[in-house]
Amino acid sequence: MVGARVSALRGAQACMRLCGARRSASSWSEVLQTAKSTLGSDAASAAQGAAAVSALTHDPLDVVGQDVSAVRHSITTLLGSGQPSLDRIAKYYFAAEGKHVRPMIVLLMAKATNGLSAAWGAQRARAIGEDVDWPMNRETVLNDVNPTAAPPPAPGAPRPLPEQYEPALQHTILPTQRRLAEITEMIHVASLLHDDVIDASPLRRGAPSAPSTFGNKLSILGGDFLLGRASIALARLRDPEVTELMSTVIANLVEGEVMQLRAQESVSERVPVTDLSSTMPSAEELERFWTAYEPQPHADVAPTRRQFQIYLQKTYLKTASLMAKSARSAAVLGGCGEWATQTYAMSAAQRADAAAVCDAAYAYGRHVGMAFQLVDDLLDFRATTEAFGKPSGGADLKLGLATAPVLYAWQELADSPLGTLVARRFGEPGDVEQALELVHRSQGLARTAQLARYHTEAAHKALSVLPASDARAALAQLNEQIVTRVK
Ligand code: FPP
Ligand code: MG
Repeated sequence: MVGARVSALRGAQACMRLCGARRSASSWSEVLQTAKSTLGSDAASAAQGAAAVSALTHDPLDVVGQDVSAVRHSITTLLGSGQPSLDRIAKYYFAAEGKHVRPMIVLLMAKATNGLSAAWGAQRARAIGEDVDWPMNRETVLNDVNPTAAPPPAPGAPRPLPEQYEPALQHTILPTQRRLAEITEMIHVASLLHDDVIDASPLRRGAPSAPSTFGNKLSILGGDFLLGRASIALARLRDPEVTELMSTVIANLVEGEVMQLRAQESVSERVPVTDLSSTMPSAEELERFWTAYEPQPHADVAPTRRQFQIYLQKTYLKTASLMAKSARSAAVLGGCGEWATQTYAMSAAQRADAAAVCDAAYAYGRHVGMAFQLVDDLLDFRATTEAFGKPSGGADLKLGLATAPVLYAWQELADSPLGTLVARRFGEPGDVEQALELVHRSQGLARTAQLARYHTEAAHKALSVLPASDARAALAQLNEQIVTRVK
């Protein structure tokens, strides 16, 4: 056990050397223990820890820019179809310049956490030996034709030896983690293809949307095709925990979208999908960002604390879940997950350390995701359509949606007609303009920005559990970029 712990520390130290880590503590485990106790006991020092992480930043594109380009290229290979129209729509949104936030989180989290598990060496050997492109079944049984993929190996051909994958070892990112970054982006883009149909959106990424170019039917089918190919890629990672995490994301995206649809119905219809605490805002968040604010809402008069809670749960499901669960999956594939920690001989302390890494990855992704969507909802009031690359200037209001800025404005201007406008979903002539004016007159945008900033600080705090490295510094910068973005 001691041997395994020492080798884990060697692995962690080797990883930190590879990542260009700058730190003086004698072991990562000590850093972890200090960070855990600091976070648990002393909020002021925890804030300092978070501030220290945010002070050390590094441009994400300097760290994983090339990997992001490789992910983009690989996705178009994964999405080939013999049906020309399907081939075109499946690749359509990947041709435009996106922000690539999700694959960047996965790649950086992989770099920041690889080597931290005592099972890292074994997990790496396994990932290098597994060919993520190797079909699980015979081609004639799969019946899946992809003209842009490499030809399948002859039936019964031996698998290439792991040594042939040696070039991939030059990077700390495993082939399974690269593929995870691709899967994450494919699921995200599938959801955009469906979302642009639901929202009847004419624009995406500064260009005509898929539905306005190819029609609704092909957009829905294109999204389904992306999910099909993402599922194949997921199966080939051969990790049941990651399969469960990423499949749950798809269910969460749909739940979040359904909640949003139902939020446009009457107040009595607005029920949470589930009371699972992991999907809900914490009591502290509710206290600080809703209840404590004056004027206090009457318990039975909208907007209620429950409505705010439901809005935040929807935000987790439709946006934060993907970032949280894919970041956690990156740590799982690096040997911090349940399968690896239960399969290899590890001490209870090593298992606890690995679990803490997974939890930190998840917490980072969750808080970044919450901040991302809050800023998105805020920019809908501030950004221009041209800068945003998609409809803005009250686009959510036009869809009948009351997001955080509206809920806050409504709470503050309780005597204004905002409640009536929300109830009729901004559906009468002049409603959108009046709601825009009221939101701008209130503290709604400032309070939404404060809530987003809170999540940014919480994401920084989660990072302080991990050892310093270029990848961690880049995750910190990405976090800042998300909350300060203007498009
Ligand atoms: C964008 O939100 C949309 C999402 C974050 C998720 C949409 C999810 C679905 C349509 C469920 C189906 C899911 C899959 C995986 C097929 P937005 O409309 O607030 O943002 P926008 O302004 O970018 O459109
Ligand atoms: Mg939309």
